[in-house]
Amino acid sequence: PTALAGRHFLKELDFTEEEFRGLVGLAAELKAAKKAGTETRYLSGKNIALVFEKTSTRTRCAFEVAAADQGAVTTYLDPSGSQIGHKESVKDTARVLGRMFDAIEYRGHGQGVVEELAAFAGVPVYNGLTDEWHPTQMLADVLTMTEHSDKPLDTMAFAYLGDARYNMGNSYLVTGALLGMDVRIVAPRLLWPDGTIVELAERLAAASGARITLTEDVKDGVRGADFIATDVWVSMGEPKEVWDERIALLGPYAVTMDVLRASGNPDVKFLHCLPAFHDLGTDVGREIYERHGLTELEVTDEVFESEHSVVFDEAENRMHTIKAVLVATLG
Ligand code: CP
Ligand code: NVA
Repeated sequence: PTALAGRHFLKELDFTEEEFRGLVGLAAELKAAKKAGTETRYLSGKNIALVFEKTSTRTRCAFEVAAADQGAVTTYLDPSGSQIGHKESVKDTARVLGRMFDAIEYRGHGQGVVEELAAFAGVPVYNGLTDEWHPTQMLADVLTMTEHSDKPLDTMAFAYLGDARYNMGNSYLVTGALLGMDVRIVAPRLLWPDGTIVELAERLAAASGARITLTEDVKDGVRGADFIATDVWVSMGEPKEVWDERIALLGPYAVTMDVLRASGNPDVKFLHCLPAFHDLGTDVGREIYERHGLTELEVTDEVFESEHSVVFDEAENRMHTIKAVLVATLG
């Protein structure tokens, strides 16, 4: 068994800096082995439950492909297809799934649900996104950053623009703080992470040497950045009504070519966990675009399709990093 055998992954800070880095390194090894056709199966005979109370493309597929590559079998429970939290308590569901499965992935709303599952399941539980945190995404983003920069992590700078009061903003702030990075949260003050999360990040930074900046000023925030990231302005589970307010607040924080240029770094890279509103490709998007006379939101199509964009490497890396979590905790 590995050093992480049996561990949950409910939020970034469940792992130490060393453990987090170790998982990213293991993901890089597993990725190289898959590309070389030399992957070893560490998970034969394992069963993994995938419980989704919100929709997903990347996270679900990453878990399914990672498990299949490693010889494990998955069972997918969709947002309407299980009793959890509706006809049966989270605690009871946890104890039932824990009797049948070797591990459970959960995507839903409150962090409290995934914590309760973990408390009663008796098997490792992984957070596949809650309102508060998106920890598996952070592993993929850090792997992508290490692939696209020659600098060590603790000398890299990244700026996150947009809604920073939700999972991605929170996760970037604490992950950057944990790993000793130069992390800038660039957003209107109203959408900065909650004070408790900022304090947590500041405590981590004192130990790791990270530099933390929260600013409303886009030019200041992106100056010298190696990576610029954003996310949707309204997340899954938030009411549709907040779109108008968010568009008004966040318009100046859209990632445009001018924003990339303001970094002063000709090699600056663009990250987005996806899905992204950068074109007319979605139904949800079309309705919002029509009301506001827009064709793109948090990122311009020009940036998204440019050579700066590494979003599809980032998406692919969801699979390699989730595989690392499975192998480390179950292998
Ligand atoms: N980035 C991400 O979590 O994508 P999905 O919602 O498609 O899983
Ligand atoms: N903040 C987004 C991330 C999607 C991967 C959401 O929660 O919908």
